[in-house]
Amino acid sequence: MFSRRTAWSTTPSPFSAALDRLRARAPLLDLTVSDPTRVGFDHPPELYRALIDDRSPIYEPDALGLPAAREAIAARHRARGDQLDAAQICLTASTSEAYAYLLALLCDPGDQVMLPRPGYPLLRYLADLSAARLTAYPLAYDVAWHIDLPALRRALEAAPRARALVVIAPSNPCGNYLDPDQLEQLDHICAARDLALIIDEVFYDYPQGAAQPPPSPLATPRRALTFVISGLSKVAALPQLKLAWTIVAGPAELRDRALARLELIADAHLSPSTLVQRAAPRLLAAAPALQARILTRTRTNLAHLREHLRGSAVTLLAVEAGWTALLRLPAIDDLDDAAWALHLAAEHRTLFQPGFFYDLEGVHLALSLITPEPDVIEGTRRLLTAVASHL
Ligand SMILES: Cc1ncc(COP(=O)(O)O)c(C=O)c1O
Repeated sequence: MFSRRTAWSTTPSPFSAALDRLRARAPLLDLTVSDPTRVGFDHPPELYRALIDDRSPIYEPDALGLPAAREAIAARHRARGDQLDAAQICLTASTSEAYAYLLALLCDPGDQVMLPRPGYPLLRYLADLSAARLTAYPLAYDVAWHIDLPALRRALEAAPRARALVVIAPSNPCGNYLDPDQLEQLDHICAARDLALIIDEVFYDYPQGAAQPPPSPLATPRRALTFVISGLSKVAALPQLKLAWTIVAGPAELRDRALARLELIADAHLSPSTLVQRAAPRLLAAAPALQARILTRTRTNLAHLREHLRGSAVTLLAVEAGWTALLRLPAIDDLDDAAWALHLAAEHRTLFQPGFFYDLEGVHLALSLITPEPDVIEGTRRLLTAVASHL
């Protein structure tokens, strides 16, 4: 009856079943919420009301997106030094949908997509849905996270049907920006192998350190066919409005052929609502104020973690950007990351994400940096108590 590509297990894993039982007993202090609308980040109410105006009853289908919305996105990029024209932009309802369009554009069934490991789990499902096969390439950690380029090259040697290389920049969950030298090397590798480079920069506007984000991949001409994707979900903390964009760059002839096909894919869906597209210029104009509030919270939380974990058995991994902090726990009492997460939930009523969600090796927990500050303070205290009782 059903397709093989959707033959995922639908029974809860032992881990999530155990968590459900714990949640049913009493509420947990949840340090994993990454939905900004659930942790107090609201825009002024007028912004939501302004979605409705005199033009609301009229449907304006436009495959690549309404010109005013695309121009607002292009202007935002030009303001940070990018070279692009609104005609290079395709709108979708979400970044996830942008991936789906790109995999449809680039891959036949069985073709391979190179994805970072550790990485964001959603992409596995999106690749399955497009009937593409995933091939992981590793990120490595020394004093910071970076792409392990020699390992990526080896992974590519073993991936004759690779069609696209996905880079999450900044990475979720590792939080590293794409280093400009690595970007140049990836551009060379992709151009030489006819691979498309997909750069997911949904967290680009959230640098955690004092340093500014590195130059954007759109600041200089690209040799490889390159797709840069992002959306309102993170840029304006408006996941409920469903608007995202794909910017197509690279050699002009290839870029235009890609755009012509993307237009047909988009025309078959006409997915983002006319209302949100019309409001896009105002929504983007409102983004910086909310980004500033989010950054204040994420940086306060990081500073707290840094100060209170220093000298403890828990290591806070370096994070350059994004909304996630990774904590490395000591390997004691045979506790792996899932066991630590369940132990913390059962005995200390606190919820962290186990690192296996992201294919992290070793014993790691992830926490969402957009969690309200008092919860991070309390959660850190409980974590340190839990770890101390095992040492
Ligand atoms: C790296 C990354 N890309 C894409 C998405 C999906 O974003 P959207 O809400 O636009 O589908 C997420 C969601 O958390 C994400 O972390």
